[in-house]
Amino acid sequence: MRKYLLEMTISFALGLFWVVAGISVNQITLAQTVNPYESNPGAIRAGGVLFRARCATCHGADARGIEAPDLTLLWASNVSNDELVFQTIRDGIPGSIMPSAGAPDNEIWTIVAYLKSISTVAVAENSSGDSLLGQQLFESNCISCHRVNGVGGSLGPDLSRIGAIRDRGMLTNSVRSPSVAMAARYRPVSLVDNSGQRITGLKKSEDAFSIQLMDSGQRLRAYLKEDLQQFTEESVSLMPEWGSEKISDRELDDLLRYLGTLRGANSN
Ligand code: HEC
Ligand code: HEC
Repeated sequence: MRKYLLEMTISFALGLFWVVAGISVNQITLAQTVNPYESNPGAIRAGGVLFRARCATCHGADARGIEAPDLTLLWASNVSNDELVFQTIRDGIPGSIMPSAGAPDNEIWTIVAYLKSISTVAVAENSSGDSLLGQQLFESNCISCHRVNGVGGSLGPDLSRIGAIRDRGMLTNSVRSPSVAMAARYRPVSLVDNSGQRITGLKKSEDAFSIQLMDSGQRLRAYLKEDLQQFTEESVSLMPEWGSEKISDRELDDLLRYLGTLRGANSN
């Protein structure tokens, strides 16, 4: 009976998520190497429910490990990545008690999104630089696009927990060469509307007939697909590159120190 109730809770949580996210299950391709649910609050909640039901007996309710490894450190090493974590969960670890999940890929991706959302890196990594100076740099250069603890723009991802989920190397790359590894759900697109105007922005949602995007001026716009003359996925991030002529290595140290302090409870 208890097990039955648990399964009901799980299917309810997932069902709700698929509906809210407007994602039909067969839209998700099998050999996906990019997590379609990265940073998606509904998916993270659904993944958390699955995790507590299926993994917590061995890995602990907080994923910090009882009889099995601490899973909050998976992304800390730079050795692991979304795809490897996905494969480990899907296939299990032969020769150990770590079972294969035997779950559909989309459920596994929600678990990956959940684990990533709670993952941490060592604080000591970001120990040089002056975080106050870094905060000033952030407020003059970055806050127009990034929210921290409820304040800031929304073209780029919320950075309230960025210090807990990305290490120094990843943060450096994000600032120096943002187009190399763009955050999921923040890949740019451009379109030409029926009046011939070209607009660049981020795709926020899409259905069979229409497409919604946030343009680079952070206005939400909706288009009917039949009105579009052109639609292109772009490969250059909407985040500008900050080379050392714009932010020196010394200033970058300050900035990274500040970003490292953002491990907050206020984000989703
Ligand atoms: C029966 C106990 C058990 C259950 C249930 C279990 N695991 Fe594990 N898991 C382990 C053990 C033990 C290891 C370490 C195996 C080894 O390396 O020899 C492990 C390893 C892992 C790893 C690799 C860790 C690393 O450091 O590379 C991941 C990821 C993982 N488990 C995720 C999950 C997820 C997600 C679930 C639920 C869907 C789950 N596990 C369910 C016991 C379990
Ligand atoms: C014009 C808007 C804009 C400005 C200004 C901007 N960013 Fe971004 N940022 C983005 C967008 C869009 C993304 C997502 C795409 C990507 O990863 O390149 C992003 C991604 C990031 C990421 C990666 C987040 C993740 O989840 O890995 C970090 C870190 C970041 N920005 C930090 C900064 C810092 C620090 C500054 C100031 C020096 C800054 N950004 C300025 C738009 C901006």
